[in-house]
Amino acid sequence: MEKMWAGRFVKALDKEADDFNSSISFDCKMYKQDITGSLAHASMLSKCGIITKSECETISDGLCSILDDLTSGKLEIDLDAEDIHMFVEAELTKRIGEVGKKLHTARSRNDQVALDIRMYLRDEIDEIISLLRKLIGAILTQAKNGKGLIMPGYTHLQRAQPLTFAHHLLAYGMMFTRDIGRLSDCKKRMNYSPLGSCALAGTTYPTDRLYTAEKLGFDGICENSIDGVSDRDFAVELLSACSLIMTHLSRFSEEIILWSSWEFKFVELDDSYTTGSSIMPQKKNPDMAELVRGKTGRVYGDLMGLLTVLKGIPLAYNKDMQEDKESVFDATDTVKKCLSVFAPMIETMKPIPENMYKAAQKGFINATDLADYLVVKGLPFRSAYKIVGQLVAHCIDLGTVLDELPIEEYKKYDPNFDSDLYEAISLETCVMKRNSLGGCGEESFERQVKYIEQYLA
Ligand code: ARG
Repeated sequence: MEKMWAGRFVKALDKEADDFNSSISFDCKMYKQDITGSLAHASMLSKCGIITKSECETISDGLCSILDDLTSGKLEIDLDAEDIHMFVEAELTKRIGEVGKKLHTARSRNDQVALDIRMYLRDEIDEIISLLRKLIGAILTQAKNGKGLIMPGYTHLQRAQPLTFAHHLLAYGMMFTRDIGRLSDCKKRMNYSPLGSCALAGTTYPTDRLYTAEKLGFDGICENSIDGVSDRDFAVELLSACSLIMTHLSRFSEEIILWSSWEFKFVELDDSYTTGSSIMPQKKNPDMAELVRGKTGRVYGDLMGLLTVLKGIPLAYNKDMQEDKESVFDATDTVKKCLSVFAPMIETMKPIPENMYKAAQKGFINATDLADYLVVKGLPFRSAYKIVGQLVAHCIDLGTVLDELPIEEYKKYDPNFDSDLYEAISLETCVMKRNSLGGCGEESFERQVKYIEQYLA
């Protein structure tokens, strides 16, 4: 296929260089956005008297027929084309003749590609947000069912204080809620139209950028044409939001993997989200969670990749920027795939309350509450803390736990101990009484659920 820009050259582009230069194999993803942008551009050209009304109609009909044919599969994308922009323009001229050559008036591929990618990514953001909402929905369902389930809370992966399964899950609910916020913020800054920036310096034609911006659903225009064509901040912001989503999914995955191991057995994953082994008949592996944890690496890579591409390029457009697409496509596709399996995996996961409870009974998980008991009786916290430390050591020597140590033993350490201590350090009391704002108690649970539900509404 002859290049549109062939006029200036004596020789054709080397075949391998041509392949190297081409982006159509991946930017074909943006054909809808490209055609939608062109329709708005043609309409603006006609409105401003740069092309006639009838030329605009011919161009628009041609573009719509290309869009229909691509969508239905009747037209295949020609992988010999340099990129999606060149492909659509060439196809248009093939279909409607000379007038097709007027479409690119007062436009450059530089503002065209910047437009397409913003339009593509703002749709991706909407899809990711809706997947996040589903995941949060699954978390809320599990949390409501697991409201009274007591499990150990950990710090340093050592049993620390008892809490509820619901409280632990809602922590992830909060993270994903923030992820939605971050994506929405990112979309706000992304939603400015670069169209009409042209190659880099604007144009002498009497164009109307505000018209196309409004027609395409943007909140305004990129105010500086150089910035319009060379800004990819929005892509970096999105990759960074995607990276954090993956961080959250990966931490959650790690816990699912631990929880479903025989060492913990706090949950059982549904068969439909686990796999077997080719040699060990007993295995039931949490592959989905492991893959999500693994795929986090590639999304971080996409972010680092794009930042590195951008750091050294002078204004305005440089071909380096063609490298932006594979990063953002890979990251958004990966995040969407991960969320699509993660949400139903969480929804169908079965908690095993006995095992959680048993684990919470060991490890002196109520030691803080015993110290608090003495504080209520009048001791300063630091003194109470010291006494309980000695009691824990004593229990370890005797091979017992705080709940089973006789009251006479307690009294040897401090006269304030009384038999009401057992009630004060029962797991149920420890958990349900933690009603400080944001704590693991019942009232706090209701407040957290309300917060998330209101956020989603
Ligand atoms: N395929 C190119 C990209 O993705 C389109 C813009 C090309 N512009 C140019 N001046 N060569 O960046």
